[in-house]
Amino acid sequence: MSIFLKDLKSIKPYTPGKPIEEVQRELGLKQVYKLASNEIPFIPTYLSKEILKELKSINRYPEASCFYLKRALAKQLKVNEDRLVFGNGSDELITLTLRVSIEKGDEVIVAYPTFLIYEIQAKAQGAKVVTAPLKDFRYDLEIMAKKVSKKTKIIFIANPDNPTGTYLTHKELEQFFKRIPKRVLVFLDEAYFDFAPSDYPRSLEFLKNRGNIIIARTFSKAYGLAGVRIGYGITTPQIATALNTVREPFNVNRFAQVCALAALKNKEFLSNVVNFVKKEKNYLYSELEKLNVSFIKSATNFILIDFKQNTTDIYNYFLRKGIIVRELKGWGLNGFFRVTVGRHNENKEFIDCFKVYLRTKFRSRKTRGGRR
Ligand SMILES: Cc1ncc(COP(=O)(O)O)c(C=O)c1O
Repeated sequence: MSIFLKDLKSIKPYTPGKPIEEVQRELGLKQVYKLASNEIPFIPTYLSKEILKELKSINRYPEASCFYLKRALAKQLKVNEDRLVFGNGSDELITLTLRVSIEKGDEVIVAYPTFLIYEIQAKAQGAKVVTAPLKDFRYDLEIMAKKVSKKTKIIFIANPDNPTGTYLTHKELEQFFKRIPKRVLVFLDEAYFDFAPSDYPRSLEFLKNRGNIIIARTFSKAYGLAGVRIGYGITTPQIATALNTVREPFNVNRFAQVCALAALKNKEFLSNVVNFVKKEKNYLYSELEKLNVSFIKSATNFILIDFKQNTTDIYNYFLRKGIIVRELKGWGLNGFFRVTVGRHNENKEFIDCFKVYLRTKFRSRKTRGGRR
């Protein structure tokens, strides 16, 4: 008898984007630009005071309830504190949600392709994963609603989505909720919420009217805190209590708590990041258009590139030049790769390298009828 779950073999482990240090070591490169994991390229240096202060208490367990952070966030969101749950990244909220809800044979609906953690963790929890294919790189809410069965427990929605970068509007989600039975828990993953445009859903309204929703957000992206791991869920007091019951008591470390609290207060950093990403995304769009490269317009800090051919060669080419992008074969998106908006010099280097790559390829293939 195996000690492992029966379904463990069917789970493909998540492969994160290559770390800078690994590429430096393997290729002997001094300068490496990581445009692979949708992090922002800036270090929130204003946090160093907080971190140094916290070092003095490093021998003590952190505050288990994120007391001060919870208070500040509740005030900012205008919700009661009992509606908030904190996690070791918003990833943990996904795991906790499944843990409090799924019993053998229950169904979970996810888009295909989308953020991979939903499927991995749902399977690990023994759920049957039902997939709803995207339509024109967007969530197809029509299909998703049709997939609901008596066994459906949770629907995961990444909005904006990763890896496509597309988003659902308030109206679209409003219509969707009218079709979904209230007993089904809807997990609205808003990891890229801060980058989204103005017709983006006001999901707190859905939560107020419907209940049975978890809105998950993170400090990893626009706030630049991916390295300390902290995210949160906004939900009903009942769901929050359930998630808090099963989480590890000290799941959010003390550095993460003080950094997030300071980050909440520093509105200027956030708005600078958001404006910067917008400007640089437009730069990338216009340069990609000049190169005649197809891409999907994004509501996030990354762009899905439709390369239309195998990406192994270009991925390795970028790597040798010290640029890490993300191949998407693991998502079933063959012929696509994803690039994160970096600093201007990084984005320019990416475009310059892309240009040289295409020129070289184009020249060598011209005799065979062009690039595509
Ligand atoms: C859609 C989506 N949800 C959640 C996460 C996880 O973020 P966190 O760092 O908060 O765990 C990511 C990270 O890339 C993401 O793309």
